[in-house]
Amino acid sequence: MTIRLSDLGKAVRDTEYAVRGPIVARAAELEKQGREIIYCNIGNPQSLGQKALTWNRQILALCEYPELMELAPSTFPADAIETARAILAGSKHGMGAYSESRGVRFIREAVAEFILERDHIGVDPDAIFLTDGASKGVQTILRLLIGDARDGIMVPIPQYPLYSATITLYEGRMVPYYLDEANGWKLSRAMLESSFAQAQAAGTDVKAICVINPGNPTGAVLDEDNIGMIIAFAQAHGLSILADEVYQENIYLPDDAFVSFARVLHEKEVKDVSLFSFHSCSKGFLGECGVRGGYFEFRNVPEDVAAQILKLQSVSLCANLAGQAATYAMVRPPKPGMPSFPQYAAEKAGILDTLKQRAILLAEGLNRIEGIRCNVIAGAMYAFPSITLPTGRTDFDYAMALLEATGICVVPGSGFGQAEGTAHFRTTILPPTEKIRRVVEALGEFHRNFR
Ligand SMILES: Cc1ncc(COP(=O)(O)O)c(C=O)c1O
Repeated sequence: MTIRLSDLGKAVRDTEYAVRGPIVARAAELEKQGREIIYCNIGNPQSLGQKALTWNRQILALCEYPELMELAPSTFPADAIETARAILAGSKHGMGAYSESRGVRFIREAVAEFILERDHIGVDPDAIFLTDGASKGVQTILRLLIGDARDGIMVPIPQYPLYSATITLYEGRMVPYYLDEANGWKLSRAMLESSFAQAQAAGTDVKAICVINPGNPTGAVLDEDNIGMIIAFAQAHGLSILADEVYQENIYLPDDAFVSFARVLHEKEVKDVSLFSFHSCSKGFLGECGVRGGYFEFRNVPEDVAAQILKLQSVSLCANLAGQAATYAMVRPPKPGMPSFPQYAAEKAGILDTLKQRAILLAEGLNRIEGIRCNVIAGAMYAFPSITLPTGRTDFDYAMALLEATGICVVPGSGFGQAEGTAHFRTTILPPTEKIRRVVEALGEFHRNFR
């Protein structure tokens, strides 16, 4: 007899991941039938035409096939060759060998320097783990924190479904806290306290709070005061913090800046809150989703717990080496004066400028449609507009009908969670600018008809 669905654990069957759910499956079917689909469902920049940075690809090519240094030396600038040589020497055995479980130490030292330059704070390279994308890091830390069916993890609503899916898979409890749509999706201490109190009343042992900054799907950017408030909240209730900072380079408003949790924790001299911060090669201006590179860094974690993290990571041996090399390329970009700098700077500015233009174009376009309201897209790669629906219709119906009518593939708001009685969808800002214009136009017409 073959394996049956009923043989599988309930946790696996209950796990949901909306970003690749039934609407995307239907989009793939339609595409097979010859329909043009505009995929706005997932933050996967290179699938929508964003080019990889030349610097990254030169480093990866040279690391994977060092013979190129001799075979085609004139194809590669001297700084890329030197960087690849340094990575290979640091890795000791090249791209085809396991590294130590935390990742190549030489690369972790570069990550530590990156954090030092960004935040002016010291970092222990042994508190940095290189991971196959941020997702693996988040899963490792949630695995660590959820030990019992009563263990709860506070997650923003709306959230990125990695969190809900992993908490379900590890059989913990998701404790939702609501972001305030009317207030630019910011979060308040009152809302955190109310969510914590409700969880406690339900017998949940709340272990940690996850924060996504800049936010997915909200696009909101937290300021230093907001971060300080969250740290104080975590301190008051003995919670760990998971700071998902994968969109730290995607900030579009001139008055906003990325502030890391690590920096605020350090400045406030908080020693009794454990912090896990995540970063990735998939977002920012790199968009190297397929390379699976990233890292997490922890602070205020006692040695015996750090040893357990190392043990957990050892079970998967190590992160993939190409992802580790890409992480090095991310944290060690060419500096002014280096041969690769002008091209790197131009490519970086080009990508960030178009993302910024698209963020404005999309939010303004959506707000022109009667029955759709969209907050300013301050950061990240998404819009999460609220929609007015005819009675009896859900946002899932809306997203499916939108796909059938226009070929635009978005994710229903219910996949991210939303306040009772509201409906949304999430779209990325990633399609080329001309397509974003078409998306806005087609959405306007569709929305009028749907209502
Ligand atoms: C908030 C957030 N965290 C983590 C990830 C996962 O990124 P990675 O590709 O590094 O696993 C994503 C991907 O979209 C994301 O939006």
